[in-house]
Amino acid sequence: MKRQPRSSPRSGKTNRTVSIIGTGSYVPEKRLTNEDLSKIVDTSDEWITTRTGIKERRIAGKDENTSDMATKAALNAVDQAKISATEIDLILVATATPDMLFPATACFVQKKIGARNAACLDISAACAGFIFGLEIGQQFITSHTYDTVLVIGAEKLTSITNWTDRNTCVLFGDGAGAAILRHRGSAHGVISTHIGSDGQFSDILFMPGGGSRCPITRDNADLHLNTIHMTGKEVYKQAVIAMIDASKKALDQAGLSIHDIACVIPHQANLRIIEGIADRLGIPLEKFYVNLDRYGNTSAAAVAIALDEANRTGRIKSGDYVLMVVFGGGLTWASTIIEW
Ligand code: ACO
Repeated sequence: MKRQPRSSPRSGKTNRTVSIIGTGSYVPEKRLTNEDLSKIVDTSDEWITTRTGIKERRIAGKDENTSDMATKAALNAVDQAKISATEIDLILVATATPDMLFPATACFVQKKIGARNAACLDISAACAGFIFGLEIGQQFITSHTYDTVLVIGAEKLTSITNWTDRNTCVLFGDGAGAAILRHRGSAHGVISTHIGSDGQFSDILFMPGGGSRCPITRDNADLHLNTIHMTGKEVYKQAVIAMIDASKKALDQAGLSIHDIACVIPHQANLRIIEGIADRLGIPLEKFYVNLDRYGNTSAAAVAIALDEANRTGRIKSGDYVLMVVFGGGLTWASTIIEW
């Protein structure tokens, strides 16, 4: 049995299902290949490809901000959904690289797309942020608070990359993806979601500088405190555990078996992590949508871009069950099953 959508807290109103009525994405023009990186740090195409599956990533221009990429993805999604930006009630931007600490990047997007009726906020859940956004957005719709929610995952990770650290700089890229959520009577849409966090692992993937605890000074900028710090092996281990557990929880809630799933869209961090998950879930790698070879890890944007590509290329079709599962700093993890 599929889990029923949650009840509305307001009496007299029926439950509402939530569908994705449009998707969009954007990646910058500029490509940085493994070959290019081997001229910056002591690495090679062979090492990066075999350890991660990444071949190249996109790099935003100096004046191209997270909100600019988010805006392009959002406009794509608005266009596909055939709605006006003024119909959007809520804009959620999941990002670890906001334009500024405040105001929210969502406010910049609002201004750029003309969504003057929307409330706006950013979500800080690192790479898991886009699915946290889907969950938050659907709560507002099932509760009848809002009708139309724009969820965006957008990152300019290359602005917080330590280009002297070969352990991390080969992994990340820039981009944005977006989805419009709305109740649509004819289709089921989001069937189940699961989100989780474990702050005990907050020190294996983090950016120590730039917040109130360690404001950036010339000295700590020299120490690269305003860049991504990661204990790769531990992150790898926890990623596999959390993504398998999150997948099983979403399947259980939906009353589905993994074999019912037509396409899995996982966080695009490392092909070996995805292979490990495919193996442990007992499904072939071909069931997974993978684009990390082209974009690297774009954190909160990764599954959002992949969802848009899978949608636009026909990799996912009406009626398919799609499992999205992610993992990120925090630690955070999330999964959702959508009937497309
Ligand atoms: N090129 C060449 N050699 C390298 C490079 C590189 N780019 N990076 C590390 N090495 C070296 C190391 O220095 C080490 O050398 P040593 O043995 O002489 O010390 C050797 O390669 C092995 O390093 P490991 O860290 O053990 O390599 P590992 O096989 O664990 O792979 C990796 C590293 C790819 C980072 C892996 O641990 C991983 O993918 N972890 C998960 C990362 C991840 O998914 N992060 C993001 C998730 S959340 C988010 O999206 C923000």
